[in-house]
Amino acid sequence: MKKIIIINASPRKNWNTAQLMKEALKGAESAGAETEYIDLYDLDFTGCRSCLVCKLKTGKHPGCAWKDDLSPLIDRILAADSVIIGIPIYYGEPPAQLRALMERLVFCTMPYGPGSYFSGKVNAGFVYTMNAPRKYYEDTLRPYLNNVENLFKLALHGEVRSYASCDTLQVNDYSLYDMSWFSESDKKQHRKEQFPSDLKECFNMGAELAA
Ligand SMILES: Cc1cc2nc3c(=O)[nH]c(=O)nc-3n(C[C@H](O)[C@H](O)[C@H](O)COP(=O)(O)O)c2cc1C
Repeated sequence: MKKIIIINASPRKNWNTAQLMKEALKGAESAGAETEYIDLYDLDFTGCRSCLVCKLKTGKHPGCAWKDDLSPLIDRILAADSVIIGIPIYYGEPPAQLRALMERLVFCTMPYGPGSYFSGKVNAGFVYTMNAPRKYYEDTLRPYLNNVENLFKLALHGEVRSYASCDTLQVNDYSLYDMSWFSESDKKQHRKEQFPSDLKECFNMGAELAA
């Protein structure tokens, strides 16, 4: 049975990213995988503290020795077949907590030298959510996100795939907020017409990575 870890890297537990990840979870379950769903912002952790314990010749490899909520999750990711991560875009990048996870997960798999501490293979699926329209995602955000995906590929040795849910509905009632850049009716129309396909894509990603 395949083990799949699904991570909602949005601080909001029921909005776009979480809904997409819950659909990926359903897809993975439909294919018979053993699953774990994590709201990343529920965990108490920081980015890499540069303690360098993971590079000690006498250390436990691979793994992060820092005692907080993230180190056990890193162990479980490295023992899984696949990880799917829902990532809201903040200022053109993944949010802070995902960046912190990436620093520690990637750093603890690699010596400062040839080879890797990690001999396994974990496939990764990335689902990005953002206000930006698809064209901006493809033309402007992709180069940076390629770098993020390549880091995971380097650390986990697996296949990487990604999907973007663009032009998301950020709030239900735009009249309550200073959000004059956005048209509530356009956002709601996009939500009605496009979001069901985004959910389906995530279901399929979960099912495919579990197959
Ligand atoms: C701090 C912050 C920064 C953001 N920066 C961007 C951005 O640079 N580009 C963009 O398209 N959307 C940006 N957004 C919007 C979110 O990416 C978008 O609303 C996403 O769907 C949020 O996911 P959620 O609904 O799961 O919370 C930002 C949101 C926040 C809170």
